[in-house]
Amino acid sequence: MFILPELPYAYDALSPVISDRTMHHHHDKHHAKYVEVLNQLVKEQGIAADNLEDVVRKAAAEKKAKLFNNAAQAWNHAFFWLCMTPGANPAAGDLAEAIKRDFGGPDALKEAFVNEGVGHFASGWVWLAAQGETLKVLSTHDGENLLTHEGLTPLLVCDLWEHAYYLDHQQDRKGFLEGWFDKLVNWSFAAKQYDAARGKAEPYRYPVPVAA
Ligand code: FE2
Repeated sequence: MFILPELPYAYDALSPVISDRTMHHHHDKHHAKYVEVLNQLVKEQGIAADNLEDVVRKAAAEKKAKLFNNAAQAWNHAFFWLCMTPGANPAAGDLAEAIKRDFGGPDALKEAFVNEGVGHFASGWVWLAAQGETLKVLSTHDGENLLTHEGLTPLLVCDLWEHAYYLDHQQDRKGFLEGWFDKLVNWSFAAKQYDAARGKAEPYRYPVPVAA
């Protein structure tokens, strides 16, 4: 059984950008449902539930859409929770230097990230990723993530599905993304992922499940 990871902060810790109500819906209903369906499919299909990254990659390779969507969405949300913190600090060190080198600075990165998210049609995810040293902003559709993008390591992700922001911002995805980028980004987590992209650390992995 894959677990539903708990939030690393209180449900109301990200308010007002993301309200307590949204966090309860998002984590306890949406994320929980993806994990529940994932576990049903894993059981039905006799798949080992010990490595979600492998499940995502194999489901993509074997074109098992339902398994891929639920496995990837379980992974994406767990990663997304860690990309946020109520005690956000600016990027520092190598990551800050890379942001300056590849985008011109944090303001230009924010503009690229917000524009990518606003321009993304319908549901999906907007990412800051690294290909080796080089930073990139990109978006993916529906549940797709970077586990199937060879050579790309995710540093940050923001959820573009309406359930992530509609209760708090209605249709204003831009306002949500700007507030998210300004107030909630966990740059320490992004820096660890940037180390992983350069072979200096292990990348994030979904929590190891407890034995069924
Ligand atoms: Fe979501």
